[in-house]
Amino acid sequence: MAIDEIKLIRPDDWHLHLRDGEAMNAVIGASAAQFARAIVMPNLKPPVTNLEQARAYRDRILAALPAGSDFKPLMTLYLTDNTSAQQITEAAASGVVHGVKLYPAGATTNSDAGVTDIRHAYPALEAMQRTGLPLLVHGEVTDSQIDLFDREHVFIDKVMIPLRKDFPGLRVVFEHITTAQAAAYVSGAEEGVAATITAHHLLYNRNAIFIGGVRPHWYCLPVLKREIHRQALVQAATSGNPRFFLGTDSAPHAQRLKEHAIGCAGCYTAPHALELYATAFEIAGALDKLEAFASLNGPAFYRLPVNTGTVTLRREPWTIPDSLPFPGDAIVPLAAGETLQWRLQG
Ligand code: DOR
Ligand code: ZN
Repeated sequence: MAIDEIKLIRPDDWHLHLRDGEAMNAVIGASAAQFARAIVMPNLKPPVTNLEQARAYRDRILAALPAGSDFKPLMTLYLTDNTSAQQITEAAASGVVHGVKLYPAGATTNSDAGVTDIRHAYPALEAMQRTGLPLLVHGEVTDSQIDLFDREHVFIDKVMIPLRKDFPGLRVVFEHITTAQAAAYVSGAEEGVAATITAHHLLYNRNAIFIGGVRPHWYCLPVLKREIHRQALVQAATSGNPRFFLGTDSAPHAQRLKEHAIGCAGCYTAPHALELYATAFEIAGALDKLEAFASLNGPAFYRLPVNTGTVTLRREPWTIPDSLPFPGDAIVPLAAGETLQWRLQG
């Protein structure tokens, strides 16, 4: 018998782009309505590279929250070639910063200040290993010789495995994994390795980008992969393995910059994130595994308490809006115009 209601301990989003200023004002309410906390990505322009900037960004986020919201931003630093051990030690002790993001330079949106050679970051990584501050990894090589669809797989061998050899105690989140190889790597790795998985990588394979013509709202990085990879991700997310947890990678871009000759990478999923995940888990016959993935595994990895309170999803068909307000433009949520069977109760 199909169930009509899902109650979950309040979930968190362990990978979120909130942007800043007017753009943040337009999107923050959506995440605050869905999640109790979120790991906030630091790829602003300029990036959030030190504790002082993280504190200031956190203050702007808190000021932008809708009245009465208790949403808690968990801040991250953007790792550069120049991040010092001292900066890491301070950040780890602050209670404000919960991770440090590795963007290989050129890998994605606002990654130009990222790490050009991982060896430049070794003093910072050593301090992270010592303090337990996790490294959050955008796991794609940037070598233009490597096929775009292979960049995550190649990253495992070229960067991840050597990195773990040099820093066996470093705690690592392989962010937004998209391949069977990454799922297998995380499952089989030593203690201290985990991964986030987006709703879009659980629901779609790469065909979604091209059905009936180019569909820019399905374009993100790492790009959607073949069906066998999608299936491996669903298997990982629904396995009950505590190493896998929810991270939307909701990445808002103005409509005109998505529907562009060179469209920006990112899927905007914040307003209907839990509904998308519930859809994927239901298709897999694994709704009973959703709470661990959404609400328990992330806090366990980040050594934070599980939230109190619950949220409820009801079987109640509704149509995702065609567009939502965004400064100077509009924003198109992923799967706009499509009908979802689950709806979060407000
Ligand atoms: O699709 C993406 N969008 N992938 C990323 O890694 C960055 C993100 C963004 O910030 O727009
Ligand atoms: Zn991201």
